[in-house]
Amino acid sequence: MLGARGGWRVLRYCSSSLPKEQRVPAARLRVREALGAREAAGEVKVQGWVRSIRSQKEVLFLHINDGSSLESLQVVADPSLECRDLTFGSAVEVQGKLVKSPHKMQNMELQAEAIHVVGPCDTLSFPFKVKERHPLEYVRQFPHLRCRSNALGALLRIRSEATAAIHSFFQDNGYVHIHTPIITSNDCEGAGELFQIETSHEAKESAEKNHFFNVPTFLTVSGQLHLEVMAGAFTRVFTFGPTFRAENSQSRRHLAEFYMVEAELSFTESLQDIMQVMEDLFKTATSTVFSRCPRDVELFHKYVAPAQKGRLEQMLKNKFVTISYNEAVEILKQASQTFTFKPEWGCDLQTEHEKYLVKHCGEVPVFVINYPYDLKPFYMRDNEDGPQQTVAAVDLLVPGIGELCGGSLREERLPFLESRLQRLGLTDAYQWYLDLRKFGSVPHGGFGMGFERYLQYILGVDNIKDVIPFPRFPHSCLL
Ligand code: 4AD
Ligand code: MG
Repeated sequence: MLGARGGWRVLRYCSSSLPKEQRVPAARLRVREALGAREAAGEVKVQGWVRSIRSQKEVLFLHINDGSSLESLQVVADPSLECRDLTFGSAVEVQGKLVKSPHKMQNMELQAEAIHVVGPCDTLSFPFKVKERHPLEYVRQFPHLRCRSNALGALLRIRSEATAAIHSFFQDNGYVHIHTPIITSNDCEGAGELFQIETSHEAKESAEKNHFFNVPTFLTVSGQLHLEVMAGAFTRVFTFGPTFRAENSQSRRHLAEFYMVEAELSFTESLQDIMQVMEDLFKTATSTVFSRCPRDVELFHKYVAPAQKGRLEQMLKNKFVTISYNEAVEILKQASQTFTFKPEWGCDLQTEHEKYLVKHCGEVPVFVINYPYDLKPFYMRDNEDGPQQTVAAVDLLVPGIGELCGGSLREERLPFLESRLQRLGLTDAYQWYLDLRKFGSVPHGGFGMGFERYLQYILGVDNIKDVIPFPRFPHSCLL
């Protein structure tokens, strides 16, 4: 077996004892590049963390991972290269020759000539153990280390690809990307779920406050109103940034800090046009992610949510279902299931209702359109359809999650908006917004999609804390 492995036997040294100047300069390769190489290559260097180590009498096997792919690179070495610090979890630099692997499991492997332990790892106190599959609940306890687990490594690569896919979708379709402010004085959704901003100096003052910006300011709950400003000059805009809601973040689908993808389209009179963009965005981004990182996605579809793959493939082929709010309430009223919140016209759809509706429609994404006027924020367009008055609003509900996207046509008619803001006592605060309806107002609309809920859905992840880089625990913000 060793004979077949070529001449590395003669090169037995441990690089930690080899003076730097005597080392041969080597091309640095990432694990992904090494695994995908078509040809053997001499003198290469791979850096990463040891994922497994197996010492046999005549040969030492290591697996090295550097985060560039789910798969690790197999390193084959002479046992004399083993040293005390070379353990699971240690950071290493391996120099050697990249050769075709005789094993079916991998295409290439690295024949080590030198192994340098850059950073040792105390395996006893390291929370992850070699060859063990740690459940997501377990790794969640270690927000500072969990990126080294297979599942979180895969998730973070998928998150990165999904971000790029979403940006590409909009750029490819002629949208201009806008950085909307994070600190703002507007409360777009008006639901009172705001984090207020003050300087640490202000926070200490108990008496009358001098606000830093002269007015109370908050972390944004949505970039929509700023996008609407831009939709007065560009016909298609989007933003994709951090969003904050001071609501119960203990649930499996709520976060205090999350990312929202938002788009705004002007010269748009039909809610169907907005829904078409939502559906296209969802399907294009998902197909791109599936084709860009199939192995990472497979890990979730194999171990976290078996059967999710087939359901999603089916979903990508079919048109999303659309029902009206009125129809939704009728379906819920006729349900044999008893709900904690009794379904009534005029009441908000609760998660239990959303899940039932999705099930009723065959576990596929469902658009619910035309919600009661009094349930929705001031900016939504009046359908003028009394006595059960509705607005041109749309929510996209998906299996296992409930609401994934929320959007609407915006009220572009000045008199309608003026009277609504007046009734809410918001006329002064939204003078600038009324201005948008005075100077070249056009029918327009848009939507927002929760990025973490999107990831939860496509990967079948139950807890939203498992799709973010740094989970926050109740009463602890150490990171
Ligand atoms: O439905 P929402 O509140 O809509 C808006 O903010 C609109 N102004 C967007 C727009 O039209 N431009 O939020 C949009 C989406 C929700 O459907 C949900 O997926 C997600 O944002 N979301 C949350 N995700 C995680 N944690 C939370 N606390 C969330 N709140 C909303
Ligand atoms: Mg909503």
